[in-house]
Amino acid sequence: MSCCGFSCVVYTLGVILGLVLLKKVVGFIYAHFIYKNSTNYRGKNVLITGATSGIGEGFAHEFSRRGANVIVVARNEEKGQNLKNTLETKYKNQVSIAIVDFEKASREEIKQALLNVVGNNKVDVLVNNVGINNTNNSPFPFTEQPESDFDKLIKVNLHSVLSVTRAIMPIMNERGTILNLSSYTAQYPTPLMTVYAATKSFINAFSLALKYEAPKMEVYGLSPMWVKSDMTMVRRATLMKPEATVYARSCVDIIGCPFGVSYGLTSAYWPHDLVVSLLALVPESFLMKQMKGFLSGLMKKMQKKAEEKKQ
Ligand SMILES: NC(=O)c1ccc[n+]([C@@H]2O[C@H](COP(=O)([O-])OP(=O)(O)OC[C@H]3O[C@@H](n4cnc5c(N)ncnc54)[C@H](OP(=O)(O)O)[C@@H]3O)[C@@H](O)[C@H]2O)c1
Repeated sequence: MSCCGFSCVVYTLGVILGLVLLKKVVGFIYAHFIYKNSTNYRGKNVLITGATSGIGEGFAHEFSRRGANVIVVARNEEKGQNLKNTLETKYKNQVSIAIVDFEKASREEIKQALLNVVGNNKVDVLVNNVGINNTNNSPFPFTEQPESDFDKLIKVNLHSVLSVTRAIMPIMNERGTILNLSSYTAQYPTPLMTVYAATKSFINAFSLALKYEAPKMEVYGLSPMWVKSDMTMVRRATLMKPEATVYARSCVDIIGCPFGVSYGLTSAYWPHDLVVSLLALVPESFLMKQMKGFLSGLMKKMQKKAEEKKQ
């Protein structure tokens, strides 16, 4: 190849790389700072699993604020009733409750519990939010993790999503929206959170495939980093660890965004998406080593606390 030929190739590759980067940057700015979902949710029906705390409760407030009728799926009747009272008093919307314990219920029991409450109505938005972490929310080496965790994680994080979606999708508005709560651990599988991360990868694969099966619908696999909740044990919200209501608002705002949300997989909260994009530049082995070190430290701290509590 002549010298000119070589520099032409380098130049062309540079231009292509530049255009790819530009598309990413423009997409990021558009999705997070320019686009705002302007759907009128007044009178629409939104079904949310795990709605009694954390991110699910954040979604319940956000959709109620936008005028939607909310179907709260809860395992604890009293918590569900308290949330219903709070939402109806604050937003004057209609709230119903379906009681389901996803760890125990069969697919048929889940279906019956939901359909009894939804009745003949169409569902416009389904939020598959329910999810749990390891026992005590603690990291574990895979071989030391209580084996009972495997069944619980599969039942609550996977079986719930399949059963609820199968029961509700046929009675959804054909232009409805499905939001599936995944996690950044799906993109960067975290050592010592191996099983949890694997359940979240399942959610992303499921969301992605479903999106193209039902092209008129909006299907998202939402992958937050940290959000203040019981699961993360974050006590004080910061920019990187927002309040659940702030996080839920970002998610609802991004629904329908035509550009900048690749395959519907996003945190939807800009600081998280920015960090995840930058992490893609870090060598994988270095990143995983840091992640393992951090989670290993957290695990030791939690074990020490548990020991002190026992004494
Ligand atoms: N928070 C984060 O930083 C973060 C990060 C990545 C992904 N996520 C994902 O986001 C989702 C919500 O997480 P979160 O942090 O908001 O969790 P959370 O605060 O612990 O809330 C979990 C919700 O699920 C309900 N729930 C738990 N087990 C249940 C069961 N067996 N049957 C029925 N309901 C059950 C809880 O009910 P009770 O109120 O009765 O306990 C609660 O309403 C999860 O899928 C999680 O994996 C969260």
